[in-house]
Amino acid sequence: MTRVALVTGGTRGIGAAISIALDQAGYRVAATYVGNETEARSFQDRTGIPTYRWDIRDYQACKDGIARVEADVGPIDVLVNNAGITRDGMFHRITPEDWNMVIGTNLNGLFNMTHPVWPGMRERSFGRIINISSINGQKGQLGQANYSAAKAGDIGFTKALAQEGAAKGITVNAVCPGYIGTEMVRAIPEKVLKEHILPQIPVGRLGEPEEIARCVVFLASDEAGFITGSTLTANGGQYLA
Ligand code: CAA
Repeated sequence: MTRVALVTGGTRGIGAAISIALDQAGYRVAATYVGNETEARSFQDRTGIPTYRWDIRDYQACKDGIARVEADVGPIDVLVNNAGITRDGMFHRITPEDWNMVIGTNLNGLFNMTHPVWPGMRERSFGRIINISSINGQKGQLGQANYSAAKAGDIGFTKALAQEGAAKGITVNAVCPGYIGTEMVRAIPEKVLKEHILPQIPVGRLGEPEEIARCVVFLASDEAGFITGSTLTANGGQYLA
């Protein structure tokens, strides 16, 4: 049986690596994006993975988008809640808009995407929900009160939902990446990255998106059915949760 996986923010960065790794592991994969049409088109041409555009901050858009994916690709067995954004700034400078954008995407997005797929997973007695949280949801990060709050919320959501899904064959897990070499991390001022962040990573380098993708493939597998409510940390030893 070929399982179907949906990856939010699945055309760039860590999400693209996850979509590709699941595709290579034999899943039928669909990937969502919201803004970067050019990149999404190039990803689809390169990989053959279908892409869908909607904003995960919008519940109805998620319901409609998921219905389209299920009609095209099949019922969703694996949902990877990967899409995430930053609006970094010292707390005294962040605006209500910075707060709401980040909470809307990185936390509310998990509700909006998971709620529509949950009844089908319950009916079919199988599901895998994998939430991409962050080291900064575990430890907190200066300049990221919004992001850290949302990512910590993702872990609470994971633990609560895991208890509800367990009797129905649905596992819910979180992956907490550390600093991975993507556009999001490259947006950090170079001086901050060199002076404050890299020296805190014992393995001495940024992570690779593929290193996170391998965690997801593992948690998505049928064989990982006994693992639920867990947080899989991949951060080069930067924070030992
Ligand atoms: N640890 C300790 N001190 C830090 C620091 C850090 N990580 N980052 C900045 N500082 C210090 C600066 O050196 C500076 O101190 P001095 O004035 O004594 O030099 C002070 O804090 C203010 O910093 P800035 O001058 O940079 O202030 P700013 O207002 O221009 O920018 C900021 C603030 C936007 C938060 C910027 O510092 C920044 O981008 N920091 C990095 C935040 C971060 O780690 N974001 C992660 C993005 S990647 C991601 O989110 C993916 C993931 O899941 C890991």
